[in-house]
Amino acid sequence: MDYPIGVIDSGVGGLTVARELMRQLPKENLIYVGDTLRCPYGPRPEAEVVEFTWDMVNFLLEKNIKMLVIACNTATAFTLEELKQKLDIPVVGVIEPGARAAIKTTKTNHIGVLGTEGTIRSHAYRKALKNINNELQIEGLACPAFAPMVEKGVVSGPLARQVIEEALTPLKDWKEMDTLILGCTHYPIIKPVIEEVIGESVDVISSGDETAREVSAILGFKRQLYEGDRPVSHQFYATGDTHLFMKIANMWLKQPVTEVGRIQLGSPQSI
Ligand code: DGL
Repeated sequence: MDYPIGVIDSGVGGLTVARELMRQLPKENLIYVGDTLRCPYGPRPEAEVVEFTWDMVNFLLEKNIKMLVIACNTATAFTLEELKQKLDIPVVGVIEPGARAAIKTTKTNHIGVLGTEGTIRSHAYRKALKNINNELQIEGLACPAFAPMVEKGVVSGPLARQVIEEALTPLKDWKEMDTLILGCTHYPIIKPVIEEVIGESVDVISSGDETAREVSAILGFKRQLYEGDRPVSHQFYATGDTHLFMKIANMWLKQPVTEVGRIQLGSPQSI
């Protein structure tokens, strides 16, 4: 089926999921929307995250997407159920795939979760993990500084290291933890520094890989994978600085991004 897959995030974080989609489904066209102007979503009230997410979804529905990937944990926590109910295309979030990947990895059943304030407050990971295995011990930690830092392009070096070290201090003494979920799609961009700080005994998990596998399985099952041989062509849109978005996209994605459309979403008052 030659319609694109829609991918949304509050900013550049969803590119970590888009990269996996491009790798696992190289024939599929993606349309990516990053609400960079209103990023971060993490500290915002639930109602605002819901409203902003719908703005992105409505933009994408006009473009005839065949499937929606909510490549943002905060938006997944607050909108996945509603979007699944209201849209007549398949909708995939990043929390259940992240939880599954962590369960596959842990041997001690002690799992840490890093996320935005919204995601941690929602307990969405705790619920997803406990639904599968009630024996798990879970500690959530909000890292409000991380997504804004990544949006600015600060992804390595002494400043990134210092911010990450300070934020992860509460988890450092939890010796039983062997698995740490990056419960925000911005965090895989700073994964090397997080791994360095948390140490070798902990496996650091991103949800992109498992999310792309789920997208692939659903499209395959529904017989909606594109099976022709036209060249791929992805589209990228951002609500804020398109140059910075393009710079981060080119750093992160394996294929060059030469055009990013600037769009306005929602009412000016909410910006
Ligand atoms: N990338 C987003 C997430 O996965 C949100 C970051 C933010 O906007 O605070 O939660």
